[in-house]
Amino acid sequence: MALVFDHVSYTYAPLTKRQIKEGQEQLWALEDISFEIEDGEFLAIAGHTGSGKSTLVLHLNGVMNPTKGKVLWNGQDLADKKVADQARGDIGVVFQYPEHQLFAATVYEDIAFGPRNLGLSADEVEERVKEGLELVELDYDVFKDRSPFELSGGQQRRVAFAGVLAMRPTTLVLDEPVAGLDPASRNDFLDLINKLHERGITIVMVSHNMNDIARLADRVLVLNGGKIAGFGTPEEVFSHAAKLREIGLGVPDAQLMANELREMGLPLEERLYSPERLANAVAALLEGR
Ligand SMILES: Nc1ncnc2c1ncn2[C@@H]1O[C@H](COP(=O)(O)OP(=O)(O)OP(=O)(O)O)[C@@H](O)[C@H]1O
Ligand SMILES: [Mg+2]
Repeated sequence: MALVFDHVSYTYAPLTKRQIKEGQEQLWALEDISFEIEDGEFLAIAGHTGSGKSTLVLHLNGVMNPTKGKVLWNGQDLADKKVADQARGDIGVVFQYPEHQLFAATVYEDIAFGPRNLGLSADEVEERVKEGLELVELDYDVFKDRSPFELSGGQQRRVAFAGVLAMRPTTLVLDEPVAGLDPASRNDFLDLINKLHERGITIVMVSHNMNDIARLADRVLVLNGGKIAGFGTPEEVFSHAAKLREIGLGVPDAQLMANELREMGLPLEERLYSPERLANAVAALLEGR
């Protein structure tokens, strides 16, 4: 197992000795989180605002270290700086609004930054830049010399992605990768992420969109108040609509509809419904099939 969370708790504000003496209670951003990310899977992380998603993501390549517990990468503790340095190319983290982190004068230089830091030769760096741009479907000759600041928002985000992909990560961690994009770019991006997954890259994606999660993810981890509130396949997790509602989350539209119809007595099986599947099931019932 490449990545394992072993009883991880994290606090942004550890109590002082005095506060402990006074009996103040410790606030946790993450509390006793244990799970494993399987190689090659598409794992979604859901939870309402402040539930700990970004904090968890920052633990995945050693940017943050647990206050208690461990994050293991191939059996090694990511709190060890040497291990975290090795993991950094292997586990690519794309933060929310990654385009804010573009900095170089040209697209080429921006993408080349990471590979160059790996100590690769100029030829190898060029190859990585080409590869990164190809993966995000931007033309190398058209874009390499352009300023990243003169691109559209969606193109900027692709360049930021390319910089992470140029490191050839085996795991790609994405914190709300389609936030703020228009519907067409959203779909392009999700298709791109899905393609990367199909190439064998493990994907960990923070998302608020239950329809996207239902469509793309193999498993969903639900956080609430820094704790795990659900973990399983989308079928399993979305069958608990009431519990999800309690913690401020919805279920996919088609599933919501299926749950309502089931409550009205329609004999629909307990499983995940896409709009097409639901339409077929209802049509079959109407025709008495
Ligand atoms: N830099 C920080 N300093 C102190 N507390 C923080 C800091 N960043 C986050 N927190 C707190 O930690 C908890 C988890 O925050 P986190 O950013 O991980 O949530 P999130 O699930 O990513 O939320 P969102 O959906 O809004 O991005 C929240 O209670 C938040 O207020
Ligand atoms: Mg966040």
